[in-house]
Amino acid sequence: MIHIAIFASGGGSNARRILEHFQNHPSIRVALVASNRKAAFVLEIAAEYGVETFVISKNMLTQPAEHPDLSEKLTKLGIDYIVLAGFLVLMPKELVHLYNERIFNIHPALLPKFGGQGMYGKHVHEAVYAAVQAGTETESGITIHLVNEFYDKGAPLFQAKIALQRTDSPSEIARKVLTLEHHYYPQTIENQILKDNLKI
Ligand code: GAR
Repeated sequence: MIHIAIFASGGGSNARRILEHFQNHPSIRVALVASNRKAAFVLEIAAEYGVETFVISKNMLTQPAEHPDLSEKLTKLGIDYIVLAGFLVLMPKELVHLYNERIFNIHPALLPKFGGQGMYGKHVHEAVYAAVQAGTETESGITIHLVNEFYDKGAPLFQAKIALQRTDSPSEIARKVLTLEHHYYPQTIENQILKDNLKI
């Protein structure tokens, strides 16, 4: 069995889709849902699915050598892959190295456009909206990519696009993009994990 941990900071609608997708999977199981916010709704969703939860403190991310609780937890549960689903803080480089090419992220735009530090959630959709109004963009979409030490810079695995109209508000753009995320993220995770493991 291959074990996944989902990391999420907030609402967890992607996390829910991923939990649903792998619920009865023959070889992939979600074994942990972790959040850097102890009140994040995603932890309640995990409990609904009977999946263990974990709260990541700031120290575990910024001083992982002194606060190794997160990597110890991942090791104890035999986590093979980490899936970021709206995890809005930078992953420590120790973890990126430990899980080299085994951490996935979803970004709500077509990277390399509209990415980088501070570009998350509504900030992305507002920037895309401004570009559509200025006539420099006519579309947006999603990027699923591997995670490295830099925000939104890892190798892309999958992109999907949607056309935008000038009448689309930032929240309408967000809604359209989220629909794509829900549709493609779980299957892309599954495809990538199975592809990796067929290589062995
Ligand atoms: C998603 O749109 C995801 O792409 C975005 O946060 C949202 C989380 O929604 N992530 C980023 O912006 C990362 N840079 P959810 O909590 O409902 O899944």
